[in-house]
Amino acid sequence: MSSLPARDFTNPRAKHGFQGRTCSVTGVGAYVPERVVTNADLEKFVDTTDEWITSRTGIKARRIAADNEFCSDLAAKAAERAMAQAGVTADQIDLIIVATITPDMPFPSTACLVQHKIGAKRAAAFDLEAACSGFIYALEVGQQFIMSRTSECVLVIGAEKLSSIIDWKDRTTCVLFGDGAGAAVLQHRPDSHGLLTACMGADGGKGGLLSQPGGGCRFPATHESVDQRLHFLKMDGKEVFKSAVNAMCTAAREALTRCELTVSQIKCVIPHQANQRIIDAVAERLKATPEQMFVNLDKYGNTSAASVAIALDEAVSTGKLQRGDLVLLVVFGAGLTWGAAVIEW
Ligand code: UT7
Repeated sequence: MSSLPARDFTNPRAKHGFQGRTCSVTGVGAYVPERVVTNADLEKFVDTTDEWITSRTGIKARRIAADNEFCSDLAAKAAERAMAQAGVTADQIDLIIVATITPDMPFPSTACLVQHKIGAKRAAAFDLEAACSGFIYALEVGQQFIMSRTSECVLVIGAEKLSSIIDWKDRTTCVLFGDGAGAAVLQHRPDSHGLLTACMGADGGKGGLLSQPGGGCRFPATHESVDQRLHFLKMDGKEVFKSAVNAMCTAAREALTRCELTVSQIKCVIPHQANQRIIDAVAERLKATPEQMFVNLDKYGNTSAASVAIALDEAVSTGKLQRGDLVLLVVFGAGLTWGAAVIEW
């Protein structure tokens, strides 16, 4: 670690004589389905208005996958783009982690399906479930494999086909979500501090605020469970909103403190793309400027585990984020779960 360039932040990974390797994101990629569904389209079959959705959430449109397009398809396409940017081939991948709450099926894992689709024959593969916080959880897990020298190249993917669990008869939730995937390639780069820190948290006591009750061993699929609509996403939006703002601010502050950074040193804050009002409240409390906050939820809605991954890809491809900049990712989701990560890009 001592050969790394000096910077005006502390690398918590390098403290206390830690001898592991740093872990960098060497490529990002995203894929969203072609079909765009606007608020005006929803007005035709949901009791809602563009005005309500825009003013309460900031969302204007979302992408909806085709009937024959599944979570693993979206994930594989995002992964191939991230691999191209990183300049790695499928046979170099040691491990694939897919964060999702909408796997193709309970098993085999979506990560195994992606492994086959991209031809990463050497890679181990597993899914990770932390809902909308999944991408940061997966980043933190993936980087442990790089730091410990267990893996040279890890593919981390956040991917969702949320349209498969949306209840189109529930206007309080169906207008919020969309489908998509984002991916990152993790490798050691000797010239970069890379992922400086990632904090994760959870509160299972509040799990009932946002869940899909059916489909597991508690409520397996039966005629009754289908009639009771237990296989759809349920959410107490107001309570989730309050918890989201508090948890995201706490996680972001903890991540910054660990690196001895202030928010003004961060080039770009990429928050979970759930609601513009949540993002504004987080920005205000963290004292981040609107220019620092990256927002693309108007185009894609809430894509859960894919959300910050898609946004990170867009921040890079649009030049908002340049190599050497500091980026803060901050997420919140079902579980409840939350997390934040600081990366030297
Ligand atoms: O990714 C996981 C994290 N999830 C989130 O971050 C979601 C967090 N929660 C939220 O974003 C917001 O709570 C919502 C956008 C879900 C709801 O906004 P709200 O300001 O909390 O609205 P509300 O639930 O208090 O509903 C206000 C009114 C209600 O009508 P009454 O009771 O005041 O007459 C709802 O029935 O808006 C009505 N409403 C709608 N009206 C038109 C709810 N959904 C709709 C709709 N269109 N789609």
